[in-house]
Amino acid sequence: MGSVVAVLGSANADLVVAVPRRPGGGETVLGSDVRVLPGGKGANTAVAAARLAASVIFVGAVGDDAHGALVRESLTTAGVDVGRLRTADRPTGAAFITVTGDGENAIVVSPGANAALTPADVDLSGAAVLVASLEVPIPVVEHAVALAAASGVRAVVNLSPVAALSPATLARLDPLIVNQHEAAALGPLLDLGVRSAVVTRGADGADVITADGVRRVPAPRVTPLDTTGAGDAFAGALAHRLAEGDTLAAAAEFACRVASISVTRAGAQPSYPTTAELRGDRR
Ligand code: RIB
Ligand code: NA
Repeated sequence: MGSVVAVLGSANADLVVAVPRRPGGGETVLGSDVRVLPGGKGANTAVAAARLAASVIFVGAVGDDAHGALVRESLTTAGVDVGRLRTADRPTGAAFITVTGDGENAIVVSPGANAALTPADVDLSGAAVLVASLEVPIPVVEHAVALAAASGVRAVVNLSPVAALSPATLARLDPLIVNQHEAAALGPLLDLGVRSAVVTRGADGADVITADGVRRVPAPRVTPLDTTGAGDAFAGALAHRLAEGDTLAAAAEFACRVASISVTRAGAQPSYPTTAELRGDRR
């Protein structure tokens, strides 16, 4: 059981519309038919790891509604343990996503049930690695990271969406994952007190930052169709490989491959590759 990954984070229904361009204030733009897909940064991370044959426990909350059933079903089908997925008395989180022709997305999230998550919901028993993202209450994430530290679980946080974490939490992260835009705003990452950091750079791969220095790992060249959830795929793949004992650089290079494949296909969870596909077999 040494290689189990616990994922803490949001579960949402993604309401996705392709648009020729994004509307400004007071403007109306017509888009494609709406697609309703399982999403949420946490559930995406869990599904990405599970597709890679990781043993995954998901800690989160959904509402007692059709959107909750959709995400629960996606997690279960991917093989994620949903025994710690709570049903809360709020609507399931929803993400309103517009995607433009260049594959870029813009997202508004209604947290709903995700906001009902409490520290008492966090149970990391059996896990080797915790990976958390920040669409759930920050005190819950901070509690989970402290619990991880106290129980010998490696703590990884994907700083998405960006939020302030306490110095005590930062000091326990190995690594903190940030995208290149967030990283630029944060300054030298090791100065935050983190043990290590990974900066994702899209097509340019990722920077792996440890006390030994910065190492750039490459990403395969692809033509992006939909980048939604690529960062979540990266986090899930990275956590899986860390749980399997990879070095941070090796795990980051693998995660770049997984994220690159995800951007060539529509949606978040539906676009994540399996181990068989990465080996060159069919999906
Ligand atoms: O990172 C992508 C995710 O962000 C979407 O699936 C959406 O649910 C929002 O949480
Ligand atoms: Na995708």
